Amino acid sequence: MFKNLKLGKKFTLLLLSVFLGSLLLSSTAFAYVLNQNAQDQLMSKALVLMQTMNSVRHYTNTQVNPELEPRLEQEFLPESVPAYAAREVFEKLREETAYREFFYKEATLNPTNLRDKADAFETTVVEQFRNSPKLSELQGFRKSAGNNLFYVARPIQIKEQSCLQCHSTPSAAPASMIERYGEANGFNWQLNEIVGAQMISVPARQVVSSAAQAFLLLMSILLVVFAIAIFAVNALLRRFVVRPLSRMAQVAEVVSTGDMGAEFEYSAKDEVGDIAKAFNRMKVSLSMAMQMLEQPQQYKD
Ligand code: HEC
Repeated sequence: MFKNLKLGKKFTLLLLSVFLGSLLLSSTAFAYVLNQNAQDQLMSKALVLMQTMNSVRHYTNTQVNPELEPRLEQEFLPESVPAYAAREVFEKLREETAYREFFYKEATLNPTNLRDKADAFETTVVEQFRNSPKLSELQGFRKSAGNNLFYVARPIQIKEQSCLQCHSTPSAAPASMIERYGEANGFNWQLNEIVGAQMISVPARQVVSSAAQAFLLLMSILLVVFAIAIFAVNALLRRFVVRPLSRMAQVAEVVSTGDMGAEFEYSAKDEVGDIAKAFNRMKVSLSMAMQMLEQPQQYKD
């Protein structure tokens, strides 16, 4: 089947299969590299924010809290709570248009402040941390209110006894805190328990779509290069092989009918030129042989 195809078709088929193979290979490799690159970009954005929020928490814990402690007896000040400070700072950041689609949440199964309540998705993340205490980070994509978000989550574990003052039983907590938050939520946490997940979400749409654009661009460049290569190989083949060969076939046809005047013309010094020369030599020998065949008859008469 392949054997009976014209030379041009043979080359086109061969090139096409090589190109399709390399297109498949390079598209898989490009997609992997671009996806990895997009995730790295999103990850580094998310980690900077996560680290900043941890710094805010630390600052609140070590510098704000001790200053406000004496006043906590009369009145509860959420400003002294690291979780509150981190969330408020982040909400301020989100007022900037550029950061509107960024989210920070200390998603907790049984939170003191209900705005920190883990939603269905966050609950699955927290459960994963609770089931495998060695797990220190989770990341991935999620859809939220039509936005494509990339999230990084880390477990929130109760590592210090001091946390339990406000998160164990309502009777242990400052009365002013109960007044403000009630007794229903944010209690019965245990030492070393993973109570929630610190989650940073950054919008992924732009990064993902620029990766998709880069992918399309690379693929179209490859396609154009392949198309040009196929076209060029075919044109060269036609100009230097197919056309000279079919012209020689015509001349051979004429010579075979006895017209020795026809010339095999091809001036290039390539293989096809060698054939033309060889044919011309053969034609000369042929005509000499025919003359020799005819001469003895003349002598007979
Ligand atoms: C003085 C009381 C107090 C102490 C001590 C305290 N918290 Fe809290 N915590 C709160 C209050 C009040 C909130 C709710 C803040 C708000 O309105 O956002 C809170 C919120 C949180 C949240 C967010 C989820 C939620 O419940 O709303 C986490 C997580 C948290 N605390 C962890 C800790 C950890 C860990 C420690 C120990 C290092 C700790 N807390 C110590 C009072 C306290």
